Amino acid sequence: MFVTALAVWGMSLNTNAWKGEVTIATPNTQLLLHADENSDLRMDYYGSRSCTAAEVRDAGTAFNYPALPAFGAVDMVQLPALQIQHADGDLSSELKVEGYDVKEEGNAKVYVFTMRDKLQPLVVRLFYKAYHDVDVIETWTEIENLAKKAVTLKRYDSGHLVIRQGDVWITHLHGDWAAEAEPTTEPLKAGVKVIRNSDGARNAHLDAPEVMLSLDGRPQENQGRVIGAALCWSGNFELRFNTLLKKEHHFFAGIDPQSSEYVLDPKQTFATPHLALTFSTKGMSGVSRAFHRWARTCGGLHRGMKVGDILLNSWEGLYFDINEERMVQMMTDIAAFGGELFVMDDGWFGDKYPRNNDTSSLGDWVVDKRKLPGGIKALTDAARERGIKFGIWIEPECVNTKSELFEQHPEWALQVKGRDLKLGRGGTQLVLDMTNPKVQDFVFKVFDDLMTQYPEIAYIKWDANASIQNYGSTYLPKDRQQNLYVDYHLGLLKVLQRIRAKYPDVVIQDCASGGGRANYGLLPYFDEFWASDNTDALQRVYIQWGTSYFFPANAMACHINHCPYWNTGGRVIPVKFRCDVAMSGRLGIELQPKDMTDEERRQCTTCFADYKQLRPIVQTGDLYRLLSPYDRKGVASLMYVKDNAAALFIYKTDNYYNQPLPRIRLAGLDPAVTYTLTEKNVRVGQRPCALSGKRFTGRFLMDVGLEVPLREEYASRVFELTSN
Ligand code: DGJ
Repeated sequence: MFVTALAVWGMSLNTNAWKGEVTIATPNTQLLLHADENSDLRMDYYGSRSCTAAEVRDAGTAFNYPALPAFGAVDMVQLPALQIQHADGDLSSELKVEGYDVKEEGNAKVYVFTMRDKLQPLVVRLFYKAYHDVDVIETWTEIENLAKKAVTLKRYDSGHLVIRQGDVWITHLHGDWAAEAEPTTEPLKAGVKVIRNSDGARNAHLDAPEVMLSLDGRPQENQGRVIGAALCWSGNFELRFNTLLKKEHHFFAGIDPQSSEYVLDPKQTFATPHLALTFSTKGMSGVSRAFHRWARTCGGLHRGMKVGDILLNSWEGLYFDINEERMVQMMTDIAAFGGELFVMDDGWFGDKYPRNNDTSSLGDWVVDKRKLPGGIKALTDAARERGIKFGIWIEPECVNTKSELFEQHPEWALQVKGRDLKLGRGGTQLVLDMTNPKVQDFVFKVFDDLMTQYPEIAYIKWDANASIQNYGSTYLPKDRQQNLYVDYHLGLLKVLQRIRAKYPDVVIQDCASGGGRANYGLLPYFDEFWASDNTDALQRVYIQWGTSYFFPANAMACHINHCPYWNTGGRVIPVKFRCDVAMSGRLGIELQPKDMTDEERRQCTTCFADYKQLRPIVQTGDLYRLLSPYDRKGVASLMYVKDNAAALFIYKTDNYYNQPLPRIRLAGLDPAVTYTLTEKNVRVGQRPCALSGKRFTGRFLMDVGLEVPLREEYASRVFELTSN
């Protein structure tokens, strides 16, 4: 299982001060470190593997800067990555490397540098985990309080990088509900730049905990040196860039210490979340491919290399208006289209308080027999009879004040004693106190009871629709309230670890009002995430584009919606375009099939059949983003390559008379191989375009490119490229 903030190395070295050099390498990248007599660990270089430590040193380009700058040890004008208030009030730490250890762990080598404070009883272990076959190095720390009294972690970043100044640009994902993952790109200028999220429970709406640093000017998709960083944490975070009038930028990433100056008890060790770092000379797409490969093969995504089923989710088709007859009808329809899974969303539970809207019932995870007289058993039976799997929605971390759970356990909700409750969704929603072991047991039991009673459940959609608005815990002592934001997520991770230990195979979707929890803190336990509550296909071209910067296609749930679509003011988009957009991720459908036109039904059936052929390439292939919708060229295009096959997607994003459309120059192919193009998901009633069946070399496709016919508004094409 992926190592999380809960894991502790549990090793102590008692050697004398160590000095020397270490090279930490992946196939194409390296990090060069050294320590002098009595010094802390120094970072000299991070980048391509094309140089030696001696060259970096001889050329005078070694940074020779603390790998983990501690307050009191670095120049005060520099920002620290670590600041601890010791029991006697001392705010400084001066770390000296005692030694380092290396061990093989799966497909990686883990280096741990043990550093001891020169004055205080404190040990800090700094880790680097370098993968043998993926260009990712993870870094994190363990802070061990050896004192007899508690200390306060005022700042405890997971990692820090030194980057040479030049024309450095940063790109991170910004957004909101229904408009997630908009890449925001800007040059890094003098001063401090901070990207943070304070939602408390969900950290990928607004600003997300990943970033790319393009070292050669304005970022490009397929060329240029780019560093990628993803903080593997589901709570509040802070990414900081500090640029002084010197020659370096400093990049820091970690848990946001605001309202979270963590109290660490004596003899306890705090492990920070991992920060995953990658470096590519192949532009932003190169960084994305490294993260995708790492997620799928190194434990960052629970699904790994597996592909996701084609599913129908009931939410946008019915909202809360579910009953047994409608569930069975939806199952019949999705099975008829060739789908593989049906998911019953919100609205199925509540006894005393039926869940008919969002104002009640969260916490009361019992079937509403008025809606589902045969219970869940009748539904799993119906799914089996139709040859499909069954899935169900829960939101176990939350409670409504109008619920039996809240009546029995009002103290389980996060709250500030004596203050009015701030209520979320539906005017009654609260977040449960995941720091409390009793609440952790309850949340585990919600999942466990469902799975024990209905072992045929193949899929759970785990939702979280609230931020932490009441900062207070009835469980944490008054002098530990500031640990709440962090302990909430450590509690959540404990529950997820219990669930995965018992249920390694059930597919779990990570959902939080859409893409609010697309992060690598949670994905080691989840198989996929719901990318957005906005399923408008044109807007999804943009949302999925940004999401793909860091997350692989088999993690990204993309559903065909109904039109006119309320979220974008009643926009109507042809079903062919809607299918083609959803086909570029984990395909699903999010509508009432009963209301579909004959054309829509036929197109979806074609789409599902063709997607099954393309699915291994899309969901587990290498992504190359070709034409960005943000560049406003009228067309967006991306492709996936796996072995000598590829899937190419082209979407017309603007439409006007006399429009010059760009050529689509492909990438990632073998120049010497000849590929046959076959158009897929051809529009119902039309023939494949003239390019279908033609053969071209990889060289031609990448150097010259294709002029793809895209005449009408919302035209789109999907091609399969095969090499035999
Ligand atoms: C928010 C999710 O993003 C939706 O997909 C849906 O599950 C609703 N919650 C249900 O309340």
